[in-house]
Amino acid sequence: MASGNLLRKLIKTGVEGNFEAFRQASAEVIREEREKRHHLLANDLEKILYGRSSDTTPSQGTLVGRLPVDRERNLPLLRIKEPFRRLEDVVLSDENGSVLDELLQEHHRAEILRSYGLFPADRLLFCGPPGCGKTLTSEVIAAELSLPLAIVRIDSVISSFLGETAANLRKVFDFAAATPMVVLFDEFDALAKERSDEAEHGELKRVVNAFLQMLDDYEGKSILVAATNHETILDSAVWRRFDEVLVFELPNLEQIRRLLAIKLRGLRREFDSDETRIAGFFKGMSHADVERVLRRAAKDMVFSGNEFLTERHLQAAVQREDIRRARIKRR
Ligand SMILES: Nc1ncnc2c1ncn2[C@@H]1O[C@H](COP(=O)(O)OP(=O)(O)O)[C@@H](O)[C@H]1O
Ligand SMILES: [Mg+2]
Repeated sequence: MASGNLLRKLIKTGVEGNFEAFRQASAEVIREEREKRHHLLANDLEKILYGRSSDTTPSQGTLVGRLPVDRERNLPLLRIKEPFRRLEDVVLSDENGSVLDELLQEHHRAEILRSYGLFPADRLLFCGPPGCGKTLTSEVIAAELSLPLAIVRIDSVISSFLGETAANLRKVFDFAAATPMVVLFDEFDALAKERSDEAEHGELKRVVNAFLQMLDDYEGKSILVAATNHETILDSAVWRRFDEVLVFELPNLEQIRRLLAIKLRGLRREFDSDETRIAGFFKGMSHADVERVLRRAAKDMVFSGNEFLTERHLQAAVQREDIRRARIKRR
């Protein structure tokens, strides 16, 4: 970790908007980290500071300026997010973990594959209940490959004029084809949302078909990820269009243990988070639920003036989560 003075300088120059001084301070941080032999961190920081090594990847600012918009309402059809979280921040099942490793490997070594006329997988389907890491995993892929993450705003894509919806999708695919990114079609099945009107429903089905057709024809620079909470749409006509399908599920006890280790990093605690018994408190929760409960427990700790997180804080927070669930269920 960089020295206190250097961090002060870094933040001060950043807050003051003095870009040149900020660059110099950042370069100093990188030098320090290199001297400490933190090469991976130094490389990462360099990439952030000087931009990406590959000159085909435009900066976030350039991308935002070029976002396609819906003609009718002038709304951008995607939003760009700088990805931060990396592989070590996500808990995956063994199966998803190996699919992901393979995928990253294919992209890291895309040139070799291409020389044999092969292409890395670039159409992925993520399915499973909310809060189990579909969006996070898209972010991780982007971060690991140093690509921007573009999240398609399905609500903007769906126009009140159905013909316009297909045109919007076309714009999104063209944008994705032109620039290397990870493009996430989050809850893409919203394209097929039931409408009361039968005729309109038929039209929407055509939109989904248009989407699948564009996916079939897609030959571009980006990785396309379609995510859905509803497995019912997963008939073979849909999933055979994708190179890889990842199914996200609620974490098992072992995965909860790993999740606790990640989320409690840096927090002083009076219990051993590696214990299966502790993981058992969170049984049946999604990863996002676990995270929320831990946040609540940590707040309790702060308000009660404790310096250590205790089992009691965890149990109280779990109890409140149970009450919250019961309340939601009653509705
Ligand atoms: N598998 C996971 N590993 C680590 N954290 C997770 C995982 N799944 C969810 N989270 C946490 O919960 C948050 C919300 O999850 P998200 O990826 O948006 O879920 P989904 O897209 O499946 O609904 C994430 O930003 C992350 O902090
Ligand atoms: Mg999501």
